[in-house]
Amino acid sequence: MTKGIKKIFSEVPQTYELVNHVLTFGLDILWRKKAAKIATEGRGSRLLDVCSGTGETAINLLHLAENGGTVIAADFSDPMIRKLAEKPEADRILLTLADASSLPFRDDTFDAITISFATRNISVSQDFRSRCFSEFHRVLKPGGVFINMETSQPPSRFIRRLFHWYVRAFVRPMANVISGSKASYAYLMNSILNFCDAEELADSIRQAGFSTVDFDLMLFGIVAVHKARKNEKGL
Ligand SMILES: C[S@@+](CC[C@H](N)C(=O)[O-])C[C@H]1O[C@@H](n2cnc3c(N)ncnc32)[C@H](O)[C@@H]1O
Repeated sequence: MTKGIKKIFSEVPQTYELVNHVLTFGLDILWRKKAAKIATEGRGSRLLDVCSGTGETAINLLHLAENGGTVIAADFSDPMIRKLAEKPEADRILLTLADASSLPFRDDTFDAITISFATRNISVSQDFRSRCFSEFHRVLKPGGVFINMETSQPPSRFIRRLFHWYVRAFVRPMANVISGSKASYAYLMNSILNFCDAEELADSIRQAGFSTVDFDLMLFGIVAVHKARKNEKGL
């Protein structure tokens, strides 16, 4: 089921960041910085960015990590990870080819895990997303945090309509023009329009075993950042 997603991300690495920056008027840069900041606040130094893509969040983590901190970027797309590997910061990040549903790390390894703008991609089914969230829980240390940043559904019906109109009218056509990958951005558009709201996502994270789950809405709820903690007892 994830084969199609892998194919999509093999077509877009060259223009991926530009498309995001244009479509969000650069706000995605600030949102990723915010995710990394929350992930590193008062935290130890083993940090994992899953579904890292071209690594913008992983690089933010690197800048904020304590001295001697370790940042690992994991993604199952070779072309996306290669794009990250071209960046000057990449030699200070450990790059791993891995599926989010089966991470090659021991239990209780990380102080913090981030995922940015990829939860839609691991939501090919509720079951698959649950498996990924359980995997994040498994590899987090007790007391560690999971930060999830993703587009959401604005609570106001008016804003939601406006947002969906913008996605239909601009995201697909503009992304097509910049990237030349029609199929990829048709998928992107549908995944944004059909994704769950922040409450439902919080429930899904809780079901994976996280003890506390809070979220903040940004830009009227177009984006949500969830913060979940693994219980100190590791349960
Ligand atoms: C929309 S991009 C997000 C990349 C990056 N996190 C960002 O903020 O720009 C989604 C990424 O998730 C990766 N991905 C999707 N499903 C995955 C899975 N099951 N396991 C690992 N990586 C996955 C894709 O290869 C792609 O690089």
